[in-house]
Amino acid sequence: MVVTPIPSISQIHSAILGEGEWKGFVKRKAGNSEMPELIDVIIERNWLMSDNTKILVRKARDQDIPAVVEIDAEAFSPYGTAEKPETFQLRLTAFPDGFIILVADNEIAAYGCSEKWLTEREPGLDENPLTTHQPDGRIFCITAMAVKMNYRGKGFGLLILDRLIELARREGCRKIILETTHAQGLFLKRGFQTVQNRTERAISLDVMSLDLKSHGRND
Ligand SMILES: CC(C)(COP(=O)(O)OP(=O)(O)OC[C@H]1O[C@@H](n2cnc3c(N)ncnc32)[C@H](O)[C@@H]1OP(=O)(O)O)[C@@H](O)C(=O)NCCC(=O)NCCS
Repeated sequence: MVVTPIPSISQIHSAILGEGEWKGFVKRKAGNSEMPELIDVIIERNWLMSDNTKILVRKARDQDIPAVVEIDAEAFSPYGTAEKPETFQLRLTAFPDGFIILVADNEIAAYGCSEKWLTEREPGLDENPLTTHQPDGRIFCITAMAVKMNYRGKGFGLLILDRLIELARREGCRKIILETTHAQGLFLKRGFQTVQNRTERAISLDVMSLDLKSHGRND
């Protein structure tokens, strides 16, 4: 029988430093907490929740887009801010590292996507990321994130948000920007502040931002 050893933390750090992608399977519970312990693996992370739900956070793939579009429509249609399927496909094409999904027991339960800009500005719905994403940009825009209705309230939203914040740091970005109609409370938990309010499609959106320089690492 071939046993794949779980990598040591230093091996994982080697992977982060570019010696290769580690795609092993790590399962850990954080004591009695529902929230899984974060393990520093760049490409994929796996957790086992205390209710035995297997969680995987990984980069999105083309075949994930229909499920992402479904979650987006479920989450944002009630607010009139759902985006077009092609927008998600283009986001994956423009910045594949910035598009992640969370799989719970083999079902796509949440997603988060992003792009980088050279200068700070208001986000917009259904923008063309092939035009707006700038690989050298240091403003990290979370263009959308959502958790499927029946998976909400389990910490998945924060898991996605934390991975995106970590990604923004790793990409050398100095600020994260996003907009939301109703989820300000989630972002306040990670130190985001409302910086502006704007209206699109007659919907009121709060623009929120997080300054990474004044927020822990990367300063
Ligand atoms: C916002 C959203 C992503 C949160 O996902 P979730 O998995 O339910 O959130 P979590 O379980 O990780 O919540 C973590 C914490 O944030 C809080 N929180 C989550 N959503 C919140 C909201 N809309 N308002 C206030 N607080 C919220 C939770 O109460 C929880 O706090 P607690 O730990 O003190 O109980 C989800 O409700 C969603 O998909 N909404 C529709 C789409 C959306 O608004 N996306 C964000 C803007 S792009």
